[in-house]
Amino acid sequence: MQLTVGIGLLGHGTVGGAVSQSLKENAETIERRTGVRCQLRGIATRGAGDARALIDDPRVDVVIETIGGTTDAADLVEHALDRGRHVITANKDLIATQGPRLIALAASRGVGLRYEAAACSAVPVVRTIHDALAGDSVYAVAGVLNGTTTSILSAMEEGVEYADALSDAQERGYAETDPASDVAGLDAAHKLALLVQLAFETAVISPRIRKSGITAVTRPEAQQAMSLGYRIRLVAAATRTPSGAFAEVSPALVPLAHAFAQATGVENVVRIDARGAGTLWLRGQGAGGAASASPILGDLVTLVREMARAGDRGRSIVPRFDPAMQVAPLFDALPRLESLPQYPVWNDAVLDIHNSGEFIHA
Ligand SMILES: NC(=O)c1ccc[n+]([C@@H]2O[C@H](COP(=O)([O-])OP(=O)(O)OC[C@H]3O[C@@H](n4cnc5c(N)ncnc54)[C@H](OP(=O)(O)O)[C@@H]3O)[C@@H](O)[C@H]2O)c1
Repeated sequence: MQLTVGIGLLGHGTVGGAVSQSLKENAETIERRTGVRCQLRGIATRGAGDARALIDDPRVDVVIETIGGTTDAADLVEHALDRGRHVITANKDLIATQGPRLIALAASRGVGLRYEAAACSAVPVVRTIHDALAGDSVYAVAGVLNGTTTSILSAMEEGVEYADALSDAQERGYAETDPASDVAGLDAAHKLALLVQLAFETAVISPRIRKSGITAVTRPEAQQAMSLGYRIRLVAAATRTPSGAFAEVSPALVPLAHAFAQATGVENVVRIDARGAGTLWLRGQGAGGAASASPILGDLVTLVREMARAGDRGRSIVPRFDPAMQVAPLFDALPRLESLPQYPVWNDAVLDIHNSGEFIHA
């Protein structure tokens, strides 16, 4: 059995910084749970260290990528997999746009590519679909997947104008300095694409998903929605039918009592529907350093256990992704209110569109 696993950490910002801290704090726990010592061999950032040299270091077995984006991070992840390194990434943009190709590359090299933190940070959606529901058939995933938009919309309900709500979210560290991806619905679409790939075994990438963000939502609309018994929330949803999939990200009117309306701050709320298991609900911290380091270390422990069992190279099955699955917008099937027709009214029944062939308005 291999007694030491070497780690190369790429990026040392919000997530990478929390990972190195957490590795230090949990080293003994991980060793006790796996029988293997995990050693951080080096950290590379844009400003310090050589990422390629770190990946090429023969003492590095696992590369943890916390850089973000789809340029340098993609090259480095691909290089790491090519060199036979296991990879753990927090990068939703990367998996949402290049996941199927990288997963196939990892399998062909006999290494693991794990990305729990990329989906909903601490909320274990990837594991739930990939492991817990591996013997089932998942036909729908839906949720409130972006905390920045939730915090902006909640502030508007309380009378704050959009621009002030956005700067407040930035001050609290919920929104990026450039929040365009959050408010335009792109971040939620990346997360939805990642979940659709996993759940429906299809090579759907985020540009193929229709998305609209919250930039056009106004304070009076948010308040009117409340008076009508709804909250406007950015909902991401996908459901599978025998002929393809429906998927969309859009602001929607969510009934006040619905779980999607209960998310606060950076929380994500996700529902997963499987034929055998029925509906599962997951809720928790969808962003933040510590909330992302936790699933990254969880992925590390899983990888280390697999490595300890199988020797360094386990037998990999190359997953099959349907490259041609059609994806149509979903929310046209939802009803609208006469008094606030700009937004569809969320109804869980839309996820059962495959049963009725057509969504019947409830
Ligand atoms: N923040 C969250 O709550 C959260 C949650 C889940 C997932 N994620 C994902 O985690 C990733 C990182 O996010 P973050 O918030 O931690 O970002 P961040 O705070 O901006 O940190 C990025 C780090 O990557 C480094 N970096 C940038 N370009 C690099 C390059 N070419 N080579 C090596 N290092 C490079 C930066 O180095 P310098 O400091 O030298 O520029 C910095 O240390 C993203 O994919 C994000 O989507 C974030």
